[in-house]
Amino acid sequence: MKRETLTIVGIGYVGLPLACLCGEKGYRTFGISKDKKKVALINQGVSPIKGDARLQQWVSQKSFTAVTGFESVKSSDIVIICVPTPIDEHYNPDLEPVESACKMIAKYMKRGQLIIMESTVNPGVCEEVIIPILEKGSGLTAGKDFYLAHCPERINPGDAYWNVRNIPRCVGGLNKKSLSWAVRFYRSIISGTIRPMKSLKEAEATKIIENSFRDINIAFVNELAKSFEVLGIDLLDVIEGSKTKPFAFMAHYPSCGVGGHCIPVDPYYLIERARKSGFDHKFLKLAREINNSMPRYAVDRLMKALNEIKKPIKGTSIGVLGLAYKADVDDLRESPAVEIVSILKEEGAKVEIFDPYFPKRSTAPSLEEMLRKVDAVILATDHREFKEMNLLNFKKAQIKVVVDGKNCLDSITIAKMGILYRGIGK
Ligand SMILES: NC(=O)c1ccc[n+]([C@@H]2O[C@H](COP(=O)([O-])OP(=O)(O)OC[C@H]3O[C@@H](n4cnc5c(N)ncnc54)[C@H](O)[C@@H]3O)[C@@H](O)[C@H]2O)c1
Repeated sequence: MKRETLTIVGIGYVGLPLACLCGEKGYRTFGISKDKKKVALINQGVSPIKGDARLQQWVSQKSFTAVTGFESVKSSDIVIICVPTPIDEHYNPDLEPVESACKMIAKYMKRGQLIIMESTVNPGVCEEVIIPILEKGSGLTAGKDFYLAHCPERINPGDAYWNVRNIPRCVGGLNKKSLSWAVRFYRSIISGTIRPMKSLKEAEATKIIENSFRDINIAFVNELAKSFEVLGIDLLDVIEGSKTKPFAFMAHYPSCGVGGHCIPVDPYYLIERARKSGFDHKFLKLAREINNSMPRYAVDRLMKALNEIKKPIKGTSIGVLGLAYKADVDDLRESPAVEIVSILKEEGAKVEIFDPYFPKRSTAPSLEEMLRKVDAVILATDHREFKEMNLLNFKKAQIKVVVDGKNCLDSITIAKMGILYRGIGK
């Protein structure tokens, strides 16, 4: 069989491991990024994504070629779109990266290709946005001259078990040939089940509901954290109890907020598209509102604890442990920690920051040195370095309040040292 050529448009958290995998599986693979430095690094075998040793090892095998231009689209059998799908400052979906990538692809498209969309989008984007741009720019007709499929990526960066090789996938196609080609392609690279969907729209909807499901359930426990604070109930203990029911309960955990490029973003794509068609997603909007309120809640917990020891937030030095949106990654997108820093500054606190993944944004070179400068801390990211820290360092640095935004520290040990401990829900 002829060795197929692939172009992957966008080589970030999603496109980079996919490009490594396709290259490894024998496809002649090109990965496009607009960033020249990133392209040069990748071609030298260096991953631009820090802190992921497995990905670094994969990139060092140089199984694909990174490029800055779209010329490789011309010689490709399959083109896969992995560009960002963010929201703007008013929480509106921003499809600009998808639109501009499609315009560039259309310039180089030729008859007979399969275009696959992997970026997360609301139901309707493939048919309402992508097809018109590709048809207009190329003069070709979708379904006849070229094929289109959607296979939403589910990768969870930093996950030790689930990865691009083994996560099951759902695939929708514009027509029979689009679907069968895309399913065959994914079966050739992925060991997980490939589930064909009825249509592009159904495939688009799978990913949005997966992440909205997470968002809603997290909002539920975050609301319980606030309620149980008033009622004097330890939510974490309650969740451990509820978890013993062997069916129909799924544990979710409260925290100082929901971050990343997916969960706090994707529901807005559905909310907005449904609104345009006259449907109001009250439940999804409320979940977003509750989760967006959690950084403020964490700071309020801190302020109340400081009040107990007669310290105003204004002028007090507060240390923020972690900036990344989740543990052991160098990703700041939609991070609640960033929001916590700005709320603390608005309140007049003197803010110190330490995140081992962001040395340039940290105000001290080490955790110990940062602790020496502050009176209280908010842990905003459960990096391993924080979870495994020697808690005596809090005492040595004379820390008076610890707000544990991820409930990952030993509350009893901290309290025994005479430090006020506040978790989220405990
Ligand atoms: N990060 C995750 O954990 C994750 C998981 C599953 C799905 N997704 C979805 O996958 C998509 C990509 O996310 P990501 O995290 O990889 O984003 P990213 O920002 O890490 O990477 C996007 C890449 O696209 C490139 N790019 C941006 N605009 C472009 C354009 N117009 N033309 C060509 N390249 C362009 C960027 O340079 C970058 O290399 C999003 O829709 C996201 O929702 C992300």
